[in-house]
Amino acid sequence: MCGIVGYVGGKKAQDVLVGGLRRLEYRGYDSAGIATLDDDDKAHLTRSVGKIAELSKALESEPQTGHLGIGHTRWATHGGVTETNAHPHHVGNIYMVHNGIIENYKEIKAELKDYDFASDTDTEVLAALIDSNYKDGVSLKDAVAKSLKRIRGTYGIAVFSPKEPGTIIVARLGSPLIIGLGKDETLIASDASALLGYTREAIYLNDGELAVCTDKGAEVFTLGLKHLDSKPETIEGDLAQIQKGGYDHFLLKEIMEQATTLHNTLSGRIDPKAGKMHLGGPNLTEKEMRDIHHVVIVGCGTAYYAGLLASYYMEQLVPDLTTEVVIASEYRYRSLHLPKDSVALIVSQSGETADTLACLREIKKRGVKTLGIVNVVGSTIAREVDGGTYVHAGPEISVASTKAFTAQVVAMLMFAGMIAEYHGGDPKLIAEFTRELEILPKEIEKVLNDNHDTMKSLAKKYSKFDHALYLGRDTAFPIALEGALKLKEISYIHAEGYASGELKHGPIALVDDRFFEVFTILDNWLFDKSCGGLHEVRARGGKTIVLTNSKADIEADDIIRIESPIKLLTPILLNTLQQLFAYYVAVNRGNDVDQPRNLAKSVTVE
Ligand code: AGP
Repeated sequence: MCGIVGYVGGKKAQDVLVGGLRRLEYRGYDSAGIATLDDDDKAHLTRSVGKIAELSKALESEPQTGHLGIGHTRWATHGGVTETNAHPHHVGNIYMVHNGIIENYKEIKAELKDYDFASDTDTEVLAALIDSNYKDGVSLKDAVAKSLKRIRGTYGIAVFSPKEPGTIIVARLGSPLIIGLGKDETLIASDASALLGYTREAIYLNDGELAVCTDKGAEVFTLGLKHLDSKPETIEGDLAQIQKGGYDHFLLKEIMEQATTLHNTLSGRIDPKAGKMHLGGPNLTEKEMRDIHHVVIVGCGTAYYAGLLASYYMEQLVPDLTTEVVIASEYRYRSLHLPKDSVALIVSQSGETADTLACLREIKKRGVKTLGIVNVVGSTIAREVDGGTYVHAGPEISVASTKAFTAQVVAMLMFAGMIAEYHGGDPKLIAEFTRELEILPKEIEKVLNDNHDTMKSLAKKYSKFDHALYLGRDTAFPIALEGALKLKEISYIHAEGYASGELKHGPIALVDDRFFEVFTILDNWLFDKSCGGLHEVRARGGKTIVLTNSKADIEADDIIRIESPIKLLTPILLNTLQQLFAYYVAVNRGNDVDQPRNLAKSVTVE
């Protein structure tokens, strides 16, 4: 996620801001900047693409001397990775940094006719809106409060103006902001790690609150400007601990935050009332959407498995569509026979995977439209596809992909839901998927919280095994593959995923006390068939774990049942438990969970 820092006090703001941004580097970013107000109330703004070192270099030639300022590390969501899109943004009398996504920025931008916009960002629009309200004696606090009432989406902002020296206004809705209270100095940060060393006393702003910060402290208000008596709290933990959000590893943080990040993936893209989905990115005309009859989905590893799961949903939603899911490293060397009415979905968290990029280029040579399903904005794949959708899962630091998998499946599902309308897709089914997507973040949070301890103790019980089979049928089959990959790549247990219908065609020969078997069994029309494989394994003494949403009697060594109104997207829910299981097995085996041996976060070589 992006990072925010702010400072007002006796120190040189530039030093505090750059130091604070360095503390936030771990969150992943692609540009950075600071803005300060000097003692003559003149504002200075420096921004750079790339690492903080680039920003520091730029500041060497134009050092900023002020004692008040704001800084930002940007992880691009709206608009590419450019200096113009970097924060802070300056519009009129306003200097501002922003974390979050403003869903209705286009509608607000259209109203602000007196403003020329230099960037493609939603942030600049908010800065202009505040500036447009900051007139005729209205205070900065009041202008910010009035403007934020127009916003749909999420924000964490810090704002200052040369017209009100000594003051920084901060506000949050869905994107954290913390106010550090020092001696004759006040700091602002989106993450407590930037405050350590200055103060341990902080006010954690709540959603819908705004604060006026000066070197004497902070006054907190509601957006309705009712004064609040916010009590400071003590910042616990050390730097490393805090950067992981209090979790022991980034992997656990990313598993647990996927409910939150999924909101960003879904933001502005589903309309549950109308029962419709819409992705802006693919920029396909109606005719182009009508003409699609074959979708090739390209990826590696987890991205491939996300595509495999999405392909089942696509074929359910779009009656006359065929799908082909391919492993990029294989596909790039095959003789690609792509029907003329094809579209290729290029799936990649990093957007830099060499084999996937090579497929993209091969497919483009054949004149087939390529759409990216990518997490890292401005990545090579994102820049080379004809169109596409950012999955907005936020930076995924841990090598094992978790929240990005969920976001990729959901993004491809929304693509299918969108084109289904142009192919006579069943409106009731589209609406059912849309409703499930709306509640999916909350259900993921519930499933993870309800079963966390159980998965932890289950992991302890099975950590000593060196072999595992993961089995599933239909939409549970891609989940079996993904669950096996998660376990093998972080625990180093030899784990294989199989279609459970394949057991009799070979794998069942493996069943003995060296192995344990994980079955994902869905409460759907294939329930009995899925249980067939389970009985075959148990009849041969297999140690079996079942993950299911069924209430029916099932015989297994361990059963994890989830309760949820979600039916169609149950595989996504159950997969989050597989993520937890793999995490705790790896922890029990003492592995480097975030940086497993031999693996890289992005495989940029063949
Ligand atoms: C998944 O946990 C692995 N880290 C790996 O399989 C990964 O999914 C694969 O390398 C593809 O990466 P990408 O999504 O960045 O292209």
